[in-house]
Amino acid sequence: MIYPEQVIEEVRLRNDIVEVVSGYVKLERKGRSYWGLCPFHSEKTPSFSVEPNKQFFYCFGCNKGGSVIQFIMNIENLEFVDALKLLAERAGITLPESEDPKERERAQRRKRILELNRLAARFYFNNLVGENGLEARNYLQRRGLTEKTVRKFGLGYSPTGWDELTRMLLENKFPEDLLLDSGLSIRAKSGELIDRFRGRIMFPIFDIRGNIIGFGGRVLDGSMPKYMNSPDTPLYNKSRELYGLNYARMSSSKKLLIVEGYMDVISLHQAGIDYAVASLGTALTKMQGWILKKYSEEVIIAYDSDAAGQAATLRGLEILEEAGCNVKVLIIPEGKDPDEYVRNNGPEKFKNLIDRAISLLDYKIRVRRNMHNLDTVEDKLKLLNGIADILAEHDNPIERELYAKDYAQKYGISYESLQEEVNRRISRRNRAGDYSASVREGRGRSLAVRRDEETDTRYSELEHMLIVILCQENRLFKLISEKYGLESYKDRKAGEIARKLYRKLEENDGCVLAELVSDMDPGIASYLVRLSQTKGDIKEPEKAVRQILNRLEIMKLEDLQKQTIERIKNEQDGEIRQQLGLEFSIRAEKIAELKKMI
Ligand code: CTP
Ligand code: MN
Repeated sequence: MIYPEQVIEEVRLRNDIVEVVSGYVKLERKGRSYWGLCPFHSEKTPSFSVEPNKQFFYCFGCNKGGSVIQFIMNIENLEFVDALKLLAERAGITLPESEDPKERERAQRRKRILELNRLAARFYFNNLVGENGLEARNYLQRRGLTEKTVRKFGLGYSPTGWDELTRMLLENKFPEDLLLDSGLSIRAKSGELIDRFRGRIMFPIFDIRGNIIGFGGRVLDGSMPKYMNSPDTPLYNKSRELYGLNYARMSSSKKLLIVEGYMDVISLHQAGIDYAVASLGTALTKMQGWILKKYSEEVIIAYDSDAAGQAATLRGLEILEEAGCNVKVLIIPEGKDPDEYVRNNGPEKFKNLIDRAISLLDYKIRVRRNMHNLDTVEDKLKLLNGIADILAEHDNPIERELYAKDYAQKYGISYESLQEEVNRRISRRNRAGDYSASVREGRGRSLAVRRDEETDTRYSELEHMLIVILCQENRLFKLISEKYGLESYKDRKAGEIARKLYRKLEENDGCVLAELVSDMDPGIASYLVRLSQTKGDIKEPEKAVRQILNRLEIMKLEDLQKQTIERIKNEQDGEIRQQLGLEFSIRAEKIAELKKMI
């Protein structure tokens, strides 16, 4: 059975590697990664690491590494397909037609719930447009939704009676336990099944393929609770879904805008901002972070600007950053939510806000600034310390300096003392040392690289590095593919991997390394993960790429030089020898120039 790439990727995204590995290995958190005793070779001190933000495991002792899928292949000693099945099962994903009867039954069940949901959504919609839906229709109209939008998002209205939906479903031969499993019916004390949602505006929740996996329901008035949602079911897990992503991923924009609620998404899409998604009021999870990263180049977070919203924004930002997203914060004036703002001010004004979204660093400082009122010297000192804390965590030294100058001036604090405070924090941290980094380097360096004998190893590592960096920074695709097209790859395996990666990026699908290695031979997966781990995080990827391309170019030219020397040696014809000599010296100059740039 060959599974589509999309399915493999879904299985990978929905199985957190830390959770999966924890089922087999006792892990301990140190810095950004988790460490434990390697299950693949015997050892007394931990050299087995799991990186949550990259979704890799890697052992510095035995060099095994890869995505969650390779972990299961290795530890359960399974073939790829069986590892995939195990993980799909774990995450409640239905794989296309499996042979295992138990699995088939569960898949069948999930399919039946999908059918049930679809029928329920139609029922709610018909109730909305029918004679009992007047009040609900008026409500939606008051909130500015057009009929087209209502249809696009499949909105509906649940009847006010106790069990109208339940009765309809039973009449359609859906068994009671399926109704309960879907979350749409609950068992009353009397033992009868009744409807979970009554008298609410219904929002079907779609998965990425447009299946209805759950519902949210809002009251029409001010009563509580304002929203009710489907519980977790075999289909729906709120920490894994993003409302509106089924539409947003089709947007031509490379951004994703993340908001809190159903109404925010719907209003924004109606206003033409078709890349909005919602986390549905819950704290953002890392799983959502990876999904956002996969589908966008930039994530803009637009939560309410009240205190709770601010705290949620900060937490969300951290999670998104850890997932490797490029994040910005959109500030909505006067504490309004995106829905209200766009309705009152129109799409253009909202787009202006998007253009003015600020960086993560600016946002953190801004929140800090609002904590003090700067009337007293003491306040200023506190702010200075707060800003120093934030700046010291920022990696880029040039930006650090620029920001320090800017903030010092803006908030009337001394630049010199701010700089001093920042430096003090950085050197204190360097002295304390980063455990994971030192383990990484110390152990990583002594290991020999296992490589294919038939290929020219000088090219292999550089070419694989290009792939690793490109997975980390998809935006560098144009630069890399223009300078180093698929035909340039000298290493056969690197060339194969690059073909797959370039294709994904050409189709505008993002690609991260964990995804790329997921269905690869474990040996080569380990090698790529090893490169990304032992070469460390690349701080300035663009510069690194330019250097690698430069070195590849030099190597290619130097190979040509060697060939030319041979030819000169064997050439009888004096004129041709001279011509070759000229070529040689022109190329030598070019090489010298390229070397200057390294
Ligand atoms: N939410 C929820 N349960 C609640 C309140 C909120 O599940 N009791 C979720 C919903 O997904 C909601 C989101 O959190 O869309 C944001 O909440 P809130 O800002 O209160 O609602 P809005 O989306 O602004 O809803 P409305 O504009 O309809 O009042
Ligand atoms: Mn609102």
